[in-house]
Amino acid sequence: MKIALIGCGSIGRVIARNITGGSVKADLRYVYDMDAKKAAEFARKFRTEYRDFDEILKQELDLVLEAASQEAVRTLIPKALKAGKNVMIMSTGALADEHLLQEIRGLAEKNNLKVYLPSGAIAGLDGIKSARDEIERVTIKTTKPPESLEGAPFFEKHPMDLKEIKKPTVIYEGTAEEAVKLFPSNVNVAASLSLAGIGPKKTRVQIVADPDAKSNVHEITAEGRFGVLKIKAENVPSPDNPKTSYLAALSAVATLKKISEPIQVGT
Ligand SMILES: NC(=O)c1ccc[n+]([C@@H]2O[C@H](COP(=O)([O-])OP(=O)(O)OC[C@H]3O[C@@H](n4cnc5c(N)ncnc54)[C@H](O)[C@@H]3O)[C@@H](O)[C@H]2O)c1
Repeated sequence: MKIALIGCGSIGRVIARNITGGSVKADLRYVYDMDAKKAAEFARKFRTEYRDFDEILKQELDLVLEAASQEAVRTLIPKALKAGKNVMIMSTGALADEHLLQEIRGLAEKNNLKVYLPSGAIAGLDGIKSARDEIERVTIKTTKPPESLEGAPFFEKHPMDLKEIKKPTVIYEGTAEEAVKLFPSNVNVAASLSLAGIGPKKTRVQIVADPDAKSNVHEITAEGRFGVLKIKAENVPSPDNPKTSYLAALSAVATLKKISEPIQVGT
């Protein structure tokens, strides 16, 4: 499997380490990052090649893997699909935008391509997919250390000193559609959950800042005629990016393994 990676950050590094270490049977041919210096260093370290994105798309590739930002999904993923490449998307928050989702779906269908969305920092999407047509309510409560919420657009209209938070505090409650715009680096999980389940308008999100939190905790509750699903993930943050759970990077690695494996386990 010949891969190009967009984003030489914390998720990108875990993916590259697993490919060069041999646990994923793939060839990391090219990397791209808007930070050229970072990309060049990354390419040297993992013995791959840094090139301009348009140049990369001219090459023969099996997969373009985004681990960069929602902006990268909006601007680069449609280009990759138009160039006939399968894609994997980590910044799934971008897909809460119905227009972009339809554009990506249409391009993939037209060109007979796949769009892979790993489970990211949550678990249980197998059960959510199975129960989808029977689900009446889904909520996700995300609890994080306050500093990992810093810089979110939400605080432009609701300024607050996160360092002053002394006990678990509900910062936000609303729909997944709104949450991914107000907390774009924090709640990709809400978008992934919506896509597996009942959509971003109906999926409810609660964000809690907890000064004693040592991990990023995601608690999902889904209810309906099928029964009740309760899923809790207590995630260790990535060592070099506290906003990203380590499990998210591992889910990208697991999806790469799944693509290259003949036997597919799980729904
Ligand atoms: N699906 C999930 O559950 C989940 C979980 C964690 C993180 N994420 C998302 O995955 C993405 C990567 O996370 P990370 O921790 O590796 O981030 P990071 O900040 O460590 O690295 C991102 C890299 O992408 C580059 N980049 C950003 N925008 C770009 C663009 N438009 N074009 C080219 N390069 C660009 C940056 O320069 C940086 O080097 C983020 O959007 C994050 O929100 C998703």
